[in-house]
Amino acid sequence: MNEQQATGYSTLQISLHWLIAALVAFQLIFGEGMTNVRDAAEEGATPSSVDFAVSIGHYWFGIAILLLVLVRLGVRLAHGVPPRPVATPTWMDWAAKLVHWAFYLMLFAMPVLGLLTVYVSDSFGDIHKLGKPVFIVLIAIHVLAALFHQFIKRDGTLRRMLVPAR
Ligand code: HEM
Repeated sequence: MNEQQATGYSTLQISLHWLIAALVAFQLIFGEGMTNVRDAAEEGATPSSVDFAVSIGHYWFGIAILLLVLVRLGVRLAHGVPPRPVATPTWMDWAAKLVHWAFYLMLFAMPVLGLLTVYVSDSFGDIHKLGKPVFIVLIAIHVLAALFHQFIKRDGTLRRMLVPAR
């Protein structure tokens, strides 16, 4: 794996990052629509049309996330990622690595758990729902770290996820 060889993120890597981020935001903000539709079905009630529309989005956006994250991992393995900014303490390097790989794990596990809930057993739904707070904590750490790099260290880390290097 040539993770340290790239000089910056490519247009494809940046596009995938922001597209996946937008889709995950939709899933986290509107995920309860899917829960409402399933609860309504269990009770023999009719879900609201908004919940119904949101649940269709939840299904297909979730599958899109799974496919896009596999593409993203493939691109990462093939083209690498830029090195960490210089003068970052070792513990921060490790924390960044940990959070990034936790994201990949969650981006893979959440859609799979969602599919298992729909096609195998409702009991996977409880584990799937637990992913929501985990995602929120990861996103909070990730955003705070980006702001720290942008406004305190001023080392261009956020910029390289906005402007392609090649
Ligand atoms: C990264 C992708 C995904 C995220 C972040 C996500 C997130 C969520 C969230 C936040 C909820 C609402 C939890 C609550 O009510 O508190 C939910 C519910 C649900 N999601 Fe997802 N989801 C994803 C992918 C999927 C996929 C691909 C499917 C199925 C194809 C799916 C099926 C479901 C189902 C069935 C529920 C209701 C669970 C229940 O009522 O027990 N999800 N999801």
